Amino acid sequence: MKVVKAPVTFDIHSVMEGSDVAVGTKRYKDAKSFFAKEGDLDENTVMYDVYSYTKGDAKRGNLNWGLTVLHPLCVAGECNMTRGHWHEDRDCAEFYFGVSGKGLLMLMDEEGNTWAEEVSEGSLHHIDGHLAHRLINTGDEDMKVAACWGCDAGHDYAAVDAMPFGYRVMKEKGKLVFVRGE
Ligand SMILES: [Fe+2]
Repeated sequence: MKVVKAPVTFDIHSVMEGSDVAVGTKRYKDAKSFFAKEGDLDENTVMYDVYSYTKGDAKRGNLNWGLTVLHPLCVAGECNMTRGHWHEDRDCAEFYFGVSGKGLLMLMDEEGNTWAEEVSEGSLHHIDGHLAHRLINTGDEDMKVAACWGCDAGHDYAAVDAMPFGYRVMKEKGKLVFVRGE
């Protein structure tokens, strides 16, 4: 029996590594529109990195594995967060797994009802395909969250632009404050 090394490794104290791993970096200049107000961050500040390992093309049955690393930043008092999305194919669910740090998985149904699950080391989150989802780092260290989803799920950002999440998560004097969206 032939035994080979795994093509990708994920040391939970570091990040995913391997020749098949793609990395995307979201900088403040490309993330500022997510936030209620402009902050004083440098335009090139790295807000989060997304590592992904995709096996096969975007057809049903193929899977992606990902890792999001959200840095502990605030924009005018608002906690750092991912853009958030629905899946283009609402029948495609996703798993998120808390690796380190702490924060929230914000979820919103198609009527705009918004709530959140606490994310911390070891927390596992099943995201129904009919829920929009966004990660928010509420802590003081990097928040790392692994994910597994179908290659055919797609990302529907336009629907979130049209109907934003119902709350914003602010930090005031170290305490979290949930502000209802306009
Ligand atoms: Fe997703």
